[in-house]
Amino acid sequence: MGARLDQSAALDAAFHMPTYTRKPVMFVRGDGMRLYDDEGREYLDFVSGIGAVNLGHAHPAVTAAMCDQATKLVHVSNLYYVEHRSELAKELCELAGGDMRVFFCNSGTEASEGAIKLARKWAHLHKGAEARTIVTALGSFHGRTLAALAATGQPGKQEAFAPMPEGFIHVPLNDIDALTGALDETVCAVMLEPVQGEGGVRLCDPEYLRAVRQLCDEREIVLIFDEVQCGMYRTGPAFAHMHADVRPDILTVAKAVGNGLPIGAVLGRGELGVAFQPGDHGSTFAGGPAVCAAARATLSALKSEGLGENATTVGAYFAAGLESLSARTGAIREVRGVGLMLAIELHEPNAAQIAENALELGLVLNNIGTNIIRFLPPLVCTNAEIDTLLTHLQSLLDTQEVAL
Ligand SMILES: Cc1ncc(COP(=O)(O)O)c(C=O)c1O
Repeated sequence: MGARLDQSAALDAAFHMPTYTRKPVMFVRGDGMRLYDDEGREYLDFVSGIGAVNLGHAHPAVTAAMCDQATKLVHVSNLYYVEHRSELAKELCELAGGDMRVFFCNSGTEASEGAIKLARKWAHLHKGAEARTIVTALGSFHGRTLAALAATGQPGKQEAFAPMPEGFIHVPLNDIDALTGALDETVCAVMLEPVQGEGGVRLCDPEYLRAVRQLCDEREIVLIFDEVQCGMYRTGPAFAHMHADVRPDILTVAKAVGNGLPIGAVLGRGELGVAFQPGDHGSTFAGGPAVCAAARATLSALKSEGLGENATTVGAYFAAGLESLSARTGAIREVRGVGLMLAIELHEPNAAQIAENALELGLVLNNIGTNIIRFLPPLVCTNAEIDTLLTHLQSLLDTQEVAL
């Protein structure tokens, strides 16, 4: 451990609420796929700040946009017009297929809260006071504030914080009969991640998404897609629901929109774009000119550098490599995912140990729970970097097998 890491860890232990079990490393600099610690050691980053830094670290266009705007104006609030906010709204709406309007917020959790309020406001206007319930999937993750947590289909994360806000029910993923059975007259919305992230990288079947869209149309129920993690070209197309060729009524995004800066957005289509009226919702910081300038630079670079295509091709190479690793080692129960949103589920509960051992080899990996390793590299990742990872991963898995 370096002296700076030691010092920081001691302060952390004394002054932070112990909500995180941090890995024993202090990153001080980044460049594309690479991170550097306080002693100058280089790492390959397969986490991207949990799927947020899709362009890679310290992207020059984002840095320039942010610095340029920071010298002029950072914050005046949503009471006034500023540069970049409306342009970014237009660009995001176009990216999501048009006929949409945006509400900006500061995180994925806030985007979930905004989507829940927006769906209920629409139902209040168009369906009456009865329809309040939001149906979400078991294993889903929508955030940590109370309503977003109530929407999250993981009872273990909720127990200590009861009572949860009312009006949420959870159904098994990809089970259209269970969803059909749950859609009574009290339901106003269905909320799904097209690819569950925190739940362990689990995909909605395209046929399931199409059937959900049809059900929602027939019953006048709002369809919300939470693309906070799987959006912004992570799986290839701009948004993961585009694989199934269906559109949501509400789309939530955050994480990669500002390449690591805090920004989120709720996009509402058609009537959902005008259901909020003055006084219904708001934020002091959201949509500020500095973060919006950075987000515009991010969107532009994601497109001009063809990173959706890269996510598709390098992701396919990566998935094939994980499959053949799985055939060789016997340690892997399943390979899952699409584009550069992939995971391996292990037979043994040693994912945290593998992630920690990987760090010593210069690889930043993320474990979910005890037996899943999730891969969310920046979308600039190359086949050569995948090869480096796969070589190390084989020895990491082999070493663990011997240790067992
Ligand atoms: C699908 C999804 N929704 C919402 C959130 C919450 O986002 P944030 O941590 O930015 O509040 C996350 C975070 O991982 C997420 O993956």
